Amino acid sequence: MNKFLVFFATCLSGLLIGPLSLADRGPLLARQALHHPVISESGMVVSQDMIASRVGAQILAQGGNAIDAAVATGFALAVTLPRAGNLGGGGFMMVHLAESNKTIAIDYREMAPAEAFKDMFLDTEGDVDNLKARFSIFSSGVPGTVAGLVHAQENYGVLSLKRVLEPAIKLARDGFTLSPDLSDSLRSRAERLQRDPSSKKYFYKADGSPYLHRDILVQKDLANTLKRIMTSKGKDFYQGKTANLIVEQMQRSGGLISKQDLANYEVIERTPVCGSFRDHRLCAMPPPSSGGVHLVQMLNILEGSDLKAMGHNSAAYIHHLVESMRRAYADRSLYLGDPDFFPVPVEQLIDKSYAAHLRQQINPKASSRSVNIKPGLRETAQPVEHNEQSESTETTHFSTWDRWGNVVSNTYTLNFSYGSGISVGGAGFLLNNEMDDFSSKPGFPNGYGLVGGIANGIQPGKRPLSSMTPTIVFDPKGEPMLATGTPGGSTIITIVMQILLNVIEFEMTIAEATASPRIHHQWLPDNIYYEPGLSEDSKAILREMGHILNDSTGRLGAAQSIYRNVDGRLHGAADSRRQGAGAVAAENP
Ligand code: GLY
Repeated sequence: MNKFLVFFATCLSGLLIGPLSLADRGPLLARQALHHPVISESGMVVSQDMIASRVGAQILAQGGNAIDAAVATGFALAVTLPRAGNLGGGGFMMVHLAESNKTIAIDYREMAPAEAFKDMFLDTEGDVDNLKARFSIFSSGVPGTVAGLVHAQENYGVLSLKRVLEPAIKLARDGFTLSPDLSDSLRSRAERLQRDPSSKKYFYKADGSPYLHRDILVQKDLANTLKRIMTSKGKDFYQGKTANLIVEQMQRSGGLISKQDLANYEVIERTPVCGSFRDHRLCAMPPPSSGGVHLVQMLNILEGSDLKAMGHNSAAYIHHLVESMRRAYADRSLYLGDPDFFPVPVEQLIDKSYAAHLRQQINPKASSRSVNIKPGLRETAQPVEHNEQSESTETTHFSTWDRWGNVVSNTYTLNFSYGSGISVGGAGFLLNNEMDDFSSKPGFPNGYGLVGGIANGIQPGKRPLSSMTPTIVFDPKGEPMLATGTPGGSTIITIVMQILLNVIEFEMTIAEATASPRIHHQWLPDNIYYEPGLSEDSKAILREMGHILNDSTGRLGAAQSIYRNVDGRLHGAADSRRQGAGAVAAENP
């Protein structure tokens, strides 16, 4: 168990920690967030990159709605935040439309190619070949981002696609000034990225040295790809020159994505998973994300306890969070997958009486042990074996809100930082390594330590299970009140839940809710992850209750949120756990 905890801690801390430790940054981050609220009456964009937030805010200022701003921000991030912003990945967009009072979930997750098969990442011994699953030409699912963003813009935007794509094209064509964050990040990934000749050419100088802070990064091939997307309304990516470049890239190394796979890619509008906590309604992403289901499930469990009386981040509070997380992630391992391939019991999992049944199992004074917790709807859990973990991950979230009350909460990803590390030659963008989000071998954890079952096994055309949790919360009158989401792999769902609890239960401002120390538990490994700032008293009491807390500390996620106050003003909170994030008001882009 100890060995296992050590490797998982190393993995998760790789996932969570950036260039500075939170011990250095924590109080400063809180001060920055609290002292620089961005408030607006006419619209807001919050993303991981200030340049991209400005692009979105300019679109709002030019009369665009929240969807136009989101699409412009998404394409801009594909240029300025190459580790997670993307054309070669996929994601989920929650849209609330003010006029029709409708909330929509747009699924543009990657799809497994037609030639993918269940055991494709198993070696001759039957073990998962992590390098093949994560860093090879086979690691990529058919990308959905371009189709998803174009679908959103064409169906729900008010400006032309040309107008919302122009800023990204300009950034790629003329270049932009590298932030310290981007230059550090490219330097730290040089070994992996330089293994691929196209990535080396796109993200490093001609002599292979890294770009420095304040250098200009010009991406001509990417600019041309974006231009073709603009003129073809996205078709080029799936059936034109870009599609050909992707397929040629596959053929050079024996990859599986074919012309037919690209032509068959489909965006799906799904019914959001909605639930309630106290007198607030919330809607989040349904399967193939596990986010909405388990967010609602955990909140249902917690709703039966007086969390406020326990006190924020007290031992009693954290104990209750952990016990709800433990049970939700146990269910995740067995019941969650692509609903088009597996009958995910969504209604049962988010049923309040099921939550009451799970709540009854929680001893308020003592920790459960995860080995004793089985997925709860049936007694079918198999013992799980753990194996070596991988490295850090990236994903990115952005939120937009316009003056009419339309709201977008969008999370998209290449999976790991810079995805597979392989760029499409001639097209200028990186490919995802989302195939690793499938369960390559039931019971064997993926790059986030998440254990899955046959529900999430590899099949042609299937979408891998995700944790991405773009969420919109409504006030007791039914008006949208909060748009939020975060990167963080397996920690995404528990981070989003804590932001909601901080706002609804503890009445924090969105800046406070964002800066507060977070914890995470995911059933297996049986360990509480926590950020600095948790009191020694709470930790000591949790240990006395039987919880396991390792010594690793790091940042959990980077939430980008917009909160609408009772006075109607929008408060933007860019999470300063990762450098470079920015909230920008529409009147001040
Ligand atoms: N690739 C991370 C996620 O989808 O949750």
